[in-house]
Amino acid sequence: MEVRLAKPEEVLSGITPVSHYFGSVPTEETARRFSQVLRSERMHVAEEDGQIVGGASAFEFQFTVPGAIVPATGVTIVGVLPTHTRRGILTQLMRAQLDDAYERGEPVACLWASEETIYGRYGYGMAALCGETEIKRVYGSFRRPVEHGGAFRLLSHEEALEAIPPVYARVAAETPGMFARSREWWEARALHDSEARRDGAGEMVRVVLERDGQGLAYAIYRLKMDFEAGSSTGEVRVIEAMGVSPAATAGIWRYLLDVDWMDRVQADLLPVDHPLFFLLEHPRRLRFRIGDSLWLRLVDVGAALAARSLVGDVVLEVADAFCPWNEARYSLAGAKTMEDADLQLDVSDLASVYLGAFTFAQLQRAGLVDELNEGALARADAAFRTDRAPWCPEIF
Ligand SMILES: CC(C)(COP(=O)(O)OP(=O)(O)OC[C@H]1O[C@@H](n2cnc3c(N)ncnc32)[C@H](O)[C@@H]1OP(=O)(O)O)[C@@H](O)C(=O)NCCC(=O)NCCS
Repeated sequence: MEVRLAKPEEVLSGITPVSHYFGSVPTEETARRFSQVLRSERMHVAEEDGQIVGGASAFEFQFTVPGAIVPATGVTIVGVLPTHTRRGILTQLMRAQLDDAYERGEPVACLWASEETIYGRYGYGMAALCGETEIKRVYGSFRRPVEHGGAFRLLSHEEALEAIPPVYARVAAETPGMFARSREWWEARALHDSEARRDGAGEMVRVVLERDGQGLAYAIYRLKMDFEAGSSTGEVRVIEAMGVSPAATAGIWRYLLDVDWMDRVQADLLPVDHPLFFLLEHPRRLRFRIGDSLWLRLVDVGAALAARSLVGDVVLEVADAFCPWNEARYSLAGAKTMEDADLQLDVSDLASVYLGAFTFAQLQRAGLVDELNEGALARADAAFRTDRAPWCPEIF
């Protein structure tokens, strides 16, 4: 069994192992769309007896972390055929991928885990949360009227490709956990209306909120119409909605909650600090369910700390069994130091506080960090504090 980089003509074979678990055989069209956003130099495959039995790939992200935008490995298309599992193939793929990311100078890697049990052993930590909700429109009233001063416009696919990306780009640049999307990403992924994703709902609908020709907010959604005893049980299924300002965000959610004839609005992958909690007159009705979203790996701990521009006087001693080049004591500026450590923790747990989703105090209450000098936890939390929860609105 050999783990190696895929050849350009092997993209289809590299996708096949993970597709197996979705119950599908990828087509040339699937491979073509992946090739628009994924370079074959970033696809590792495991080959045995001439057959590709496993794969792991990496998107090349410009990824927002608190205070900076850094190059990041966006881990994707990870799978090993069921005929070859539990023989260490994933471990070899992760080894090759993380070594490659380190050599390329990508300080962090991120992913959505199919199962939470898989990636901790490779130094990934749960680093962002997201929430899902279903709001009955009868409980969709806001506490205050929304004043966005704009107008809504439904968009064709081509119009959406022009109108939506600038809004997303503004939000992504200031939201830890988001990454820049290329034109190809919008075409092949975010605005790609695949039949397979409709799940009984209608075509993708795109709407923008604009003022003076400038996009302020957008939503991408589908309508799923249904009836019970003659009355609508129809659903607005939100794929993505965001705005560049509080008024614009409120405006787009007001729009979604005001689609007539629908019974409810369903949304997932929402930020856990969503303004809806304060916009709605009935926040309890959100019945917000929270789960893990992004998992993060500090590929180069020093570079990752330096990028966050942390200010403060704390020495972190980091253990990293899978990437031993990281094992050292660090100042918050990211420099390796010989000074005594204030806090000791594993690299996967440092990843959990890195984007701001969790605190060192939370780690300590779970027994995951040792405070060697009193007050160090509080100083570290003050340095890492962010004013918003990390948010990744898209599974990749
Ligand atoms: C997850 C998957 C890639 C693992 O591949 P694999 O080649 O069997 O993994 P390895 O043999 O390298 O396993 C390494 C370790 O992880 C553990 N492990 C692997 N998959 C696991 C899982 N799904 N749940 C719990 N533990 C798992 C193994 O038990 C092994 O532990 P050990 O080192 O203590 O013995 C494979 O099971 C798969 O393709 N699953 C379905 C698709 C999927 O979930 N892909 C991930 C998308 S994010």
